[in-house]
Amino acid sequence: MAEFRVESHHDGAIEVWTIDGGERRNAISRAMRAELEHLIEEAGKKPALRAVVITGAGDRAFCAGADLKERSTMSEEEVRTFLLDLRRTFRALELSDKIFVAAINGAAFGGGLELALACDLRVMSPGAKVALTETRLAIIPGGGGTQRLPRLVGMAVAKDLILTGRPVEADEALRIGLVHRVSEGVVSAAIALAEEVAAGGPIALAAAKAAIQQGMELPLDEALELEYRQYERTLHTQDRLEGLAAFREKRKPVYRGV
Ligand code: COA
Repeated sequence: MAEFRVESHHDGAIEVWTIDGGERRNAISRAMRAELEHLIEEAGKKPALRAVVITGAGDRAFCAGADLKERSTMSEEEVRTFLLDLRRTFRALELSDKIFVAAINGAAFGGGLELALACDLRVMSPGAKVALTETRLAIIPGGGGTQRLPRLVGMAVAKDLILTGRPVEADEALRIGLVHRVSEGVVSAAIALAEEVAAGGPIALAAAKAAIQQGMELPLDEALELEYRQYERTLHTQDRLEGLAAFREKRKPVYRGV
């Protein structure tokens, strides 16, 4: 059974991937994780694709984290394998040239929030909640949550959220910088944000994402060197010349990713 519904918009520039986890609030089963990894890989091969919106089916949950029903049937070894697979999958999102926007339409708990944290941008519905609930289940976030959350909101806030496991509502999520926007009609708002992103040059988007993402992990001098190398990716492109021509001619640029 397909775990995601994929829709294409704007001549293939934007895709919406809807997690359709049936009666388990879009929780991440092994099959779903594998399909997500496959989708990310395929996205990388689509030159026209600029940005992907990820959301959940229904209005209750974006994604309720690991599939706890499946988990209770898994051996320790199977859980270990799942964690490593999940780590690779979320890292692939972060390292992808495409821009990922999470449209958090309902509860994003545990691995569901970790999925959103691995995306580049997050839009949240006013009634949604996010939480890293794992310590309440006597485990810890295992999909990067202990690392990505403090990098995003700082160590103090991350310790509050991870050690209490408490749900965070949209106004607080916005205030602490966990999400970029709060909006009714969250999928439309995320598509609008993806459209804004898609107006940029595709190679520039990939280079800027890589410079920010990988630069954060480096000392400043090395990070600035990384920025210089990523700038270089844009320097020989036709899109760069198109951007300059469009500015000169006072028209909208048409970028082709070359
Ligand atoms: N894995 C498997 N099934 C799940 C699930 C999960 N992570 N989260 C919810 N479900 C299932 C429930 O067991 C229930 O199934 P049932 O009808 O067979 O009992 C169904 O989805 C609906 O759940 P319910 O709690 O009634 O829905 P809700 O809309 O009131 O609340 C959540 C949604 C996500 C807030 C709530 O289900 C929840 O807190 N789930 C646990 C999330 C979590 O802690 N995840 C971290 C995992 S590490």
